Amino acid sequence: MAEFVPVPSFDLVVFGASGDLALRKLFPSLFHRFKDGQIPSDSRIVGVARQVMTKDAFRKTVSEGFANLAKGDPSAEEFQAFLALIDYVALDATKADGPWDHLVQSLAGGEDKVRVFYLSTPPSVFGGICAQLRDAGLVSPASRVVLEKPLGRDLKSAKAINDAVAEVFSEDRVYRIDHYLGKETVQNLLVLRFANALFEPVWSRAAIDNVQITVAETIGVGSRGDYYDKSGAMRDMVQNHLLQLLCLVAMEPPNSVDADAIRTEKIKVLQALVPIGPADIASHSVRGQYRAGLVENEPVKGYLEDLGPNRTSSTETYVALKAEIANWRWSGVPFYLRTGKRLPSRRSEIVVTFRPPPHSLFGNGGEPNQLVMRLQPDEGMEMWLQIKEPGPGGLRVKSVPLDLSYETAFTLRYPDAYERLLMDVVRGNLSLFMRKDEVESAWEWVDQVIAAWESAGTQPDPYAAGSDGPLQAALLMDRDGRKWRDLI
Ligand code: BG6
Repeated sequence: MAEFVPVPSFDLVVFGASGDLALRKLFPSLFHRFKDGQIPSDSRIVGVARQVMTKDAFRKTVSEGFANLAKGDPSAEEFQAFLALIDYVALDATKADGPWDHLVQSLAGGEDKVRVFYLSTPPSVFGGICAQLRDAGLVSPASRVVLEKPLGRDLKSAKAINDAVAEVFSEDRVYRIDHYLGKETVQNLLVLRFANALFEPVWSRAAIDNVQITVAETIGVGSRGDYYDKSGAMRDMVQNHLLQLLCLVAMEPPNSVDADAIRTEKIKVLQALVPIGPADIASHSVRGQYRAGLVENEPVKGYLEDLGPNRTSSTETYVALKAEIANWRWSGVPFYLRTGKRLPSRRSEIVVTFRPPPHSLFGNGGEPNQLVMRLQPDEGMEMWLQIKEPGPGGLRVKSVPLDLSYETAFTLRYPDAYERLLMDVVRGNLSLFMRKDEVESAWEWVDQVIAAWESAGTQPDPYAAGSDGPLQAALLMDRDGRKWRDLI
């Protein structure tokens, strides 16, 4: 059993406390950290939302969230002890005339403690909430703010948000979350690359043919249609999660694991991404939108029906891109990115395909070596090698994986990404959070792709729910003589 070092006692205020993210991820994550003894029992958690309700009613809402997730028995003693940390303040945090004094009272006596403001709200109100916090005198010297993604909807709005937040919180007190960075397997990427001398000599155009990054989901947009339709897969997934994965694969070794050392290297990758403009948009990108179909043998509706009756939309629920990095290490190595909803399986993985041997001794020498990093589910790693197929009668070469499954190798419960990230905020460790310039560089690249789509004026290609995505995505690979790794 792993030992958990307790964090200092803290006060955490969650804005948007009755929202999906808070109930599904934040409170369950906090409970797990509490249960493992990492959260001191004099810490306090304050939920803030507009809806008027009592503290007890809010605690009940939190428990119901758990019951739905089947995470922990709400009647258990430790769960009651956890609920006892929670207070609730009904407040429209965008308004100066709200009852801010209620929040002040709730946090009274905690002026010297670590104080975390978690903004699980639409990004358009981040700046306004920070200003209200300052005006209400709530920003103590040990305060910090956590900003949920997406940070804006383009470079301009992201800059405006960053500037507004910076008027209240200095950069070293701003924690921009991308929960992918909190996933165990994503952190393992750094360890894999920089704690094993084996990979560095082959980690470049000299030995690597291409890299594929896939984040496939079986879910549709569910009840998040209003948010999603304004974002689409590009803003919701590529701008943050997929580009972060790309950075971790492609970055140079940092000097240390210090937050700025890592973030500086990631930014260099983002800045080296070759723009995909109007001339390349058709050959380097595909947008799709799901139609009705069968996912895991269940019939599901199409995107437009998920949005509601009589809806039209040109928002993409699938994106495939061929990205290129113009630097010494990666020039000429395509990074294929794809993500989509209502695909046949939930699968996030990074596949590094190596070049074939320079001279083939064995005729048709099988498949190229591949390193597959499975981020979720079934976390693990496969290194595909060529071996001689055992048996007499000729020499046949066969591809087989050296397979490491984390589940088999380690018996530990897999913590949710938010568990680590929340504790890192309290500890003041910024390594797994995005710096202002990092988010802005990512938007800069993404904005150009979106602008090229808009000027092309094309609609997303339809794909049946449960299929691998639009045919055009397969063609994008086919043009390069390559194939996506199967999703099933
Ligand atoms: C979120 C997106 O950031 O990530 C969602 O807004 C998506 O649309 C989710 O479903 C995927 O996260 P995970 O951890 O389930 O892969």
